[in-house]
Amino acid sequence: MSSDETQPHIRHPNPNQVPSRTSKSRLSFFFFSSILVLLLAVSLGLASRTHFFKAHLLTRFQQILRRLLPLKPRQNPHSDGTNLSADPSHCVLWMAPFLSGGGYSSEAWSYVLSIHNHLRIKKSPKFKLGIEQHGDLESIEFWEGLPVEIRNLALELHRTQCAPDRTILVCHSEPGAWYPPLFQTLPCPPYGYGHYRYVIGRTMFESDRVGLEHARRCNRMDYVWVPTDFHVRTFVSSGVDPAKVVKIMQPIDVEFFDPEKYWPMDLSSLGDLVLGERSKAQDLNGRMEFVFLSVFKWEFRKGWDVLLSAYLREFDGADGVSLYLLTNPYHSDRNFGNKIVEFVDNSNMEKPRNGWAPIYVIGTHVPQSDLPRIYKAADAFVLPSRGEGWGRPLVEAMSMSLPLIATNWSGPTEYLTEENSYPLPVERMVEVVEGPFKGHLWAEPSVDELRRLMKHLVSSPEERKNRGRQARRDMIRRFSPGIVAEIVSEEIEKLLEGRE
Ligand SMILES: *[C@@H]1O[C@H](CO)[C@@H](O)[C@H](O)[C@H]1NC(C)=O
Ligand SMILES: *[C@@H]1O[C@H](CO)[C@@H](O)[C@H](O)[C@H]1NC(C)=O
Repeated sequence: MSSDETQPHIRHPNPNQVPSRTSKSRLSFFFFSSILVLLLAVSLGLASRTHFFKAHLLTRFQQILRRLLPLKPRQNPHSDGTNLSADPSHCVLWMAPFLSGGGYSSEAWSYVLSIHNHLRIKKSPKFKLGIEQHGDLESIEFWEGLPVEIRNLALELHRTQCAPDRTILVCHSEPGAWYPPLFQTLPCPPYGYGHYRYVIGRTMFESDRVGLEHARRCNRMDYVWVPTDFHVRTFVSSGVDPAKVVKIMQPIDVEFFDPEKYWPMDLSSLGDLVLGERSKAQDLNGRMEFVFLSVFKWEFRKGWDVLLSAYLREFDGADGVSLYLLTNPYHSDRNFGNKIVEFVDNSNMEKPRNGWAPIYVIGTHVPQSDLPRIYKAADAFVLPSRGEGWGRPLVEAMSMSLPLIATNWSGPTEYLTEENSYPLPVERMVEVVEGPFKGHLWAEPSVDELRRLMKHLVSSPEERKNRGRQARRDMIRRFSPGIVAEIVSEEIEKLLEGRE
């Protein structure tokens, strides 16, 4: 659906901290109002568990939606030709931060859209799909940026009636949001364990392990879905029951992120020049400058310091290269230009005789629909991250046939190869000193290796094009929505038929 790095209101999954009261106040209003409905239902003895389950969830979601958009007259849910007699009674209810825009939100949308399309073309689907908001604040900006078809689909999927005992519940969020939640959110499962046919946790982490509390939470689930072999290893070695851990990769919308479909965006008009000088767009031979693009939240984990060091040490103002950073804040202000200048001032780098190689920042909100055109305008993508769960911008860039340099550690090892990208070697493992992964280990990518790869990439046009093409082929072959939906459906059907 979208890059986790370019959406508003991101709250990183934070396994240790409980978010502040104020940051949750908007959500808590809805939460408590639906709790009220729930308590009322209980005290009046009006509802069976199934009924108040629905009362609780519907109230919450509809209140949010009603506030976010004017409700349209309800359409006939079967007007799209769905085979009524084939309407299955089993349900997959996907609970995730659909309305929040963060990383889990875009992931969840990518699964739900894939599965929905898969079910639509299937002759006799074995289950139907429902969705519910859970696990993070909702963002009006994000909701309003969604195409109207998606919003209508959200409403439609939210109306799916699911009987708990015939439902496989997927809790797609950080384990801190699972029952009982560590912060104010509608928990998943909503009433604790034991009411559903199966409960599956879908999560991932960016460091080398899962904390004790989260491993315990994973073990309360019937299954835990993780996206990569890296996560299977780290979850199991952290004490999560190996019989519960299942790898389910993440889909990438290869039709939306298709380089054939877009003209490049004029990046120089979109980005603010924060260091160096604007290079002349073309030299006398008609050669354009070489554009490196990086997309990330402004946090230490993303290795922006490594990127700036390597780029500024390797290139200068006469090399005809430029670096564009599409970034947004993570617990910080938006003044990225200052941060970059400050970083350079505090480093021991000396300004080259030809001046600094130019750095541009795109710090404004970029609608999802413009994202492919930004990738299209770049010659290469680079992200020397210290740890990634999946790396959505990486697979988006690869789907756009962009040659890519990314750290060869954690989630991305699932898809990085020497044939489809430029895997950046890790210098050593280091202890995380602050934030949610404090005390864990993650990778320290090599500045020297990054310099070498960036230089090599600029001077090897044929090779990098070949790798970019291979990248897209690999994305289509392994992670296109149809392929992943097939894998998810197979797993669900296995559970429903008791084949597990
Ligand atoms: C609808 O589903 C039923 C049961 O699966 C099947 O027998 C029937 O052929 C389907 N009809 C159409 C038009 O697909
Ligand atoms: C990347 O890491 C894998 C192990 O995860 C290793 O087999 C491979 O050789 C590495 N590639 C590079 C280019 O360092």
